[in-house]
Amino acid sequence: MAQIGKDISKAKTLLEQGQLVGIPTETVYGLAGNALDPDAVALIFATKNRPDFDPLILHTSAMDRVFDFVKEIPKPLDLLAAKFWPGPLTLLLPKKEVVPDLVTSGLDTVAVRVPSHPLTNKLLSELDFPLAAPSANPFGYISPTKASHVNDQLGEKIGYILDGGDCEVGLESTIVGIEDGEITVYRLGGLDIKAIKDVVGEVKVMTHSSSNPKSPGMLKSHYSPTKPFILGKLDDLISEYSSRGVPFAVLSFCKSFPFLEQSIQIQLSKGGDMNEAAKNLFAAMRALDTMDVSVILSELLPEEGLGRAINDRLRRAAVQ
Ligand code: TXA
Ligand code: MG
Repeated sequence: MAQIGKDISKAKTLLEQGQLVGIPTETVYGLAGNALDPDAVALIFATKNRPDFDPLILHTSAMDRVFDFVKEIPKPLDLLAAKFWPGPLTLLLPKKEVVPDLVTSGLDTVAVRVPSHPLTNKLLSELDFPLAAPSANPFGYISPTKASHVNDQLGEKIGYILDGGDCEVGLESTIVGIEDGEITVYRLGGLDIKAIKDVVGEVKVMTHSSSNPKSPGMLKSHYSPTKPFILGKLDDLISEYSSRGVPFAVLSFCKSFPFLEQSIQIQLSKGGDMNEAAKNLFAAMRALDTMDVSVILSELLPEEGLGRAINDRLRRAAVQ
């Protein structure tokens, strides 16, 4: 198992040696390595068991450092950067030579973000290089929002996890680029699309993507628990699976089911708060996945605010 702690200088030393470290961000935990070192980047792909056609996000500590790796921040993406960095926004930007092709899977854009977690931001500001960091889960599984999640699955493969507590946002960053002058959202995430529209006006949403060459990583079956994950109307699903005698657990937005055992049900937010639901989503999916049941029954949330991004994850989890 990996060592878990808050020692920034230890994390820094390991990263400088070309090793990988689990890092906290406000969205999810990342599996970080030196983005400018092709060997470290290759180790990230191998450790996650991630196909090399799925490019990585480069993390740096401040907007002015972004220009070390990208040619420009095209207008009006610069407005989004100024407004939302540090924060859960990733921009697709024209890359400079210095970024290894392995990071971008050969694309001429690189995904960049400035995360807002204080520990990781301090680490980034002390490093001479940016960090490439995909979510710290095996490819295709649920993203980690606690240090223990990283340890559970990748602990055997990495030396150190920087413990920044529970991730505040709980959903991966929103990925935005520009295509033929149109602002395009490639992944719904922790930054609400409405906040983006308030700055740049209308945006195109293009997230359905096994057919989307721009975001090769947005494969439909992402975020999959190992158990079948069924979406529908919970009352109907519960009566159907009860009558069939199939052991199940329930993930709801806010409703509880008094006639079911408490231990087999999780509410994402008892008060119906969307931000709280986002923060709890992945930990809940992981907890349900370890219960002694055969299926997980769940429901979509209202399609508003972060509800759209949460529903995107729930739908992908339901693809078998
Ligand atoms: O919140 C986050 O973004 C987290 C934390 C750790 O920062 N990271 C994360 O990384 O979610 P990952 O690797 O799990 O997801 C990155 C996504 C993938 O779907 C990938 O296909 C897409 O970003 N991506 C990366 N570079 C791209 C590029 N140049 N063009 C299009 N999509 C890109
Ligand atoms: Mg991921």
